[in-house]
Amino acid sequence: MNIRQIQEARELYGIDDWGAGYFGIDDEGHVVSHPTGEEHLSVSLPEVIAKLKKQGMHTPVILRFPQIIEGQLERMHSAFRQAITEFHFKGKHIGVFPFKVNQRREFIDAVVSCGQRLNYGLEVGSKTEFIAAMSYPLTAESLLICNGFKDREFIEMSFLGAAMGKRVVVVVEGPDELETFIELAKRQTIVPEVGLRVRLYAKGAGKWEKSSGDSSKFGLTTTEVLNCLALLEAANLQDRLAMLHFHIGSQITEIKRFKNAIKEASRVYAKVCKMGYNPAFLNIGGGVGVDYDGSKSSFLSSANYTMQEFANDAIYVLGDVCANEGVPYPTIVTESGRVIAAYHSVVVTDIREVQGEEALPIETDLPEHSDGEVHKSIKELKYILDNINRKNYVEFYHDAIEYQEELFTLFNLGYLNLADRAFAEDLFRRVCRRALYFSGFQRHQLEEFEDLQKVMVSKYLANFSMFQSIPDSWAIDQLFPVMPLSRHDEKPSHKATIVDITCDSDGCLDTFVDRADVKTALDLHVPNNQPYYIGFFLVGAYQESLANEHNLFGAIHEAELHINADGDWEITKVTKGDPIDELLESRNYDLKEIVGCYELQFNRAVAEGRLTPEEGKNGLQRMAKFMKSYPYLLDR
Ligand SMILES: Cc1ncc(COP(=O)(O)O)c(C=O)c1O
Repeated sequence: MNIRQIQEARELYGIDDWGAGYFGIDDEGHVVSHPTGEEHLSVSLPEVIAKLKKQGMHTPVILRFPQIIEGQLERMHSAFRQAITEFHFKGKHIGVFPFKVNQRREFIDAVVSCGQRLNYGLEVGSKTEFIAAMSYPLTAESLLICNGFKDREFIEMSFLGAAMGKRVVVVVEGPDELETFIELAKRQTIVPEVGLRVRLYAKGAGKWEKSSGDSSKFGLTTTEVLNCLALLEAANLQDRLAMLHFHIGSQITEIKRFKNAIKEASRVYAKVCKMGYNPAFLNIGGGVGVDYDGSKSSFLSSANYTMQEFANDAIYVLGDVCANEGVPYPTIVTESGRVIAAYHSVVVTDIREVQGEEALPIETDLPEHSDGEVHKSIKELKYILDNINRKNYVEFYHDAIEYQEELFTLFNLGYLNLADRAFAEDLFRRVCRRALYFSGFQRHQLEEFEDLQKVMVSKYLANFSMFQSIPDSWAIDQLFPVMPLSRHDEKPSHKATIVDITCDSDGCLDTFVDRADVKTALDLHVPNNQPYYIGFFLVGAYQESLANEHNLFGAIHEAELHINADGDWEITKVTKGDPIDELLESRNYDLKEIVGCYELQFNRAVAEGRLTPEEGKNGLQRMAKFMKSYPYLLDR
């Protein structure tokens, strides 16, 4: 046990900062999850992986902790409960979960069952999400909110939802939707409630700033709000107006943006009340940020406030406006998705290979150049390598660059053979590594060595697809905490970037979270003869919904975990990832047709004497078996 090193690892990866009490490193140097947020109840992630392996489940795998979902729902709810008491707010709080944030059935099942006690509801943005949401046993007080653009069919579905007994609120995005709603209402006895999505001047902050403000694609202008109110009144449906809604974007990094938006929306609410309407709910949308880098700042991957501060500000500002305007206190609705879902899952995968300079320890012996006489410039490079030191490394490094360029020119002119070229490349890399090593002793590193450091990192080939498992990392440069699952009692010796197994150069991860900065390399150990696993954390929000099947790598295996009060944990459910045949079917391939084509080709090979009948039969059977396998890399 190397407690000092383990503490260093905690700081190096920042796990105590971004882990929110759900993740840590134990005294054996293993990453653990505390699914209930209690430090003494731990699930060792390497042990989970070992157990799954025994059951025939290989990495990549997504580990799901439904207790973390419950913990986050509870944290949100109790933050509001506390704020309501502290500021003597006379209304209530209720939460809904936005379906789009993670539509996996396993996930929504957990949200609904954990959320029942808190009357948690669901928010949907499409007909498909609505159809799924309607099948869940929500409580009588829970809301089922229909957002997004709606056609007649969607609005008809919402009427059927209300008829089935759900508390459906149709949030209108435009006057046309309301006209259709009113037309249908005339013919129905059970009519859902209506909400109006208001376009605010106040803007969010961060990557999703465009979701809000004057030019947003969402929400009704003030004139449209007034028109909608008039339409409702003309149809004698004013009592159906139940909600005013806004959403200023996801991952709001600065609390003051929320404050401004809630202030504005509270005034809109108060003025609508004063016109004689009585909306019971003010829906303040989602957007609570996740502190992915643990910096608690307004940086894009962080948020400069806690959930409690968010609840306090929301309740205080709304309560203040209601008191000031003398209107009833509404129930405040939150539609947070990211902060509820992000923590609950971890993608774990294995490192298959290490490529690049740092794969070689600095001291390794130089291979002999066995091919006779070597060129003068190669001898010079060898001299540099043998004599570079802390005092001359800048000058010697510059000389090495010159010799290296000269040697390339000589090769292109045909004066060097491949063995010379390989020897020169090897020498040059070693000089670079030594120069970097010596530059590390300087208090202020020269810019050229900072640049050199970036290109000298190793590449760790990880058995996963970024496009499937962390698509936002590729699409919008979202940062996620990444770290090895074990060996934290050992100092990591390599600086590395991570490359995935897709045939796409974009499948490369070269920015990593850090409290004070963004790292361009991750500290990793040199894999030994044991599998080396790394985890991608806080990936529970949006990553599964946005996952794509680049190179036909599909959904990965899943395992759900539960821990009891005695600290015993178990794998409660496993779901196999997409096999090759299902991925092909999803792209319209007919499996029978494929097998038929194979059969023809094997038969021809047998007929032409290239295979024996036995080999032909065997080959066909093996192809049929491979078609059902996991597309990710299996053990060698
Ligand atoms: C209308 C609406 N509500 C809620 C959310 C959830 O936001 P977040 O996941 O940032 O909490 C979104 C997502 O952007 C949204 O568009």
